[in-house]
Amino acid sequence: MCGGLFGNRLLSFEFKSKRVYLKCINCNSTFNANPMLFLCPKCGGLLEVIVEVDKGISWDRFRARRFNVWRYRELLPVPSDVEIVTLGEGGTPLIPLVNMEHYGLPRSLRVYVKFEGSNPTGSFKDRGMTVAVSLAKYVGVKAAIVASTGNTAASASAYSARAKIKCIVLLPKGKVAKGKLGQAILHGAQIIEVKGSFDNALEAVMKTVKTTNKLYPLNSFNPWRLEGQKTIAYEIADELNNQLDWVIVPVGNAGNISAIWKGFRELYKLKLIEKLPKMIGVQAEGASPLVKTWSIKSNKLIPVNKPETCATAIRIGKPINWAKALKAVKESKGMFIAVSDSEIIESQKILAKFEGIDVEPAGAVGLAALLKLNRENIVDHGSNIVIVATGHALKDVDIIIKYYDVVKISADTTEVLLVIDRIISK
Ligand code: F0G
Repeated sequence: MCGGLFGNRLLSFEFKSKRVYLKCINCNSTFNANPMLFLCPKCGGLLEVIVEVDKGISWDRFRARRFNVWRYRELLPVPSDVEIVTLGEGGTPLIPLVNMEHYGLPRSLRVYVKFEGSNPTGSFKDRGMTVAVSLAKYVGVKAAIVASTGNTAASASAYSARAKIKCIVLLPKGKVAKGKLGQAILHGAQIIEVKGSFDNALEAVMKTVKTTNKLYPLNSFNPWRLEGQKTIAYEIADELNNQLDWVIVPVGNAGNISAIWKGFRELYKLKLIEKLPKMIGVQAEGASPLVKTWSIKSNKLIPVNKPETCATAIRIGKPINWAKALKAVKESKGMFIAVSDSEIIESQKILAKFEGIDVEPAGAVGLAALLKLNRENIVDHGSNIVIVATGHALKDVDIIIKYYDVVKISADTTEVLLVIDRIISK
């Protein structure tokens, strides 16, 4: 064992005008900023990157730059001489919902969709990859490795291609939406299909990385990657100022909700926001280990052995970042909630049909949760709510085609006009 995950290759880098170090969320030990250190060398716990800046941070300074991940570069842990690997990620639209009365939400709510499908590879993963792959290139790794339900593979392979780094992806066989698989193929990744679930694939990646220093892991146990994803919080706060009560986030491996919460916490500490939102973590009923853990107030994860859901992106039974996510939801006074597959599909349809927003099933769980909480009278009138819609509908067209409702006729004009007449008089 040479312990790649634990950073045996001792690297450290220099930052100008900020202090960056790593802190274990389990034993609180701190370590110098080492881009090859991913888990605590003392207890094996998850690490968090701490970025401390004291001067020169203001919204005015940020807003003088283009709206994307790198607008907030002072708060990102990259050395000043890094060559950034970027595809222009972030700067995604915050779209207000306008037809909520059609699906039972009161007009007094202000609900926005943070549409992460408009990122370069169609999901929020790009925010993390621009940071992590820039660091991987900086330290000179030859190959990156990742286990994925699909989007991480699509994104990691794109950024690796750009950085001239080989990308190896482990996918649960038969469980990855075709759009995502197609992207990884197109970006030239080496695809390895494994039997079992994403959890098995991730375990294989972790074991492999522990035995070698040659591979750079791009999964969300890599705390450097999560730093890019915290910019979702920065962008929401940048646009809404302090008008924010809830942020609703789909939860799979539980990295994103932890990263977003970290982002808000940092802004609060820097006095760039005056109020912290509640974080609502959403899982699919058949893959809801954190909802189960939360509901019985357990401090240990209750895993799900055979996770199942139509939202394949979040078909995960043992989220690696469970401890970070529990802490985030607890600190924010939020909650975890599960929604059924039929609620997910219904919400996917609502977003597309009433709002023109195309999301994949995992991206629709936030609306499904909001509708459920509203039915249960848990939503306060007048609240400002952001739903993070994490991935684009085109990632998984098969699931849409299943619900395709079509009128089949000949191309005869009289028949076409007859049918059209019937449709518009409905
Ligand atoms: N939504 C989408 C569209 C995702 O692809 C994922 C995760 C999540 C939500 C959950 O985010 O894991 O940070 O809690 N997809 C990973 C992947 C697991 O391999 O693409 P999380």
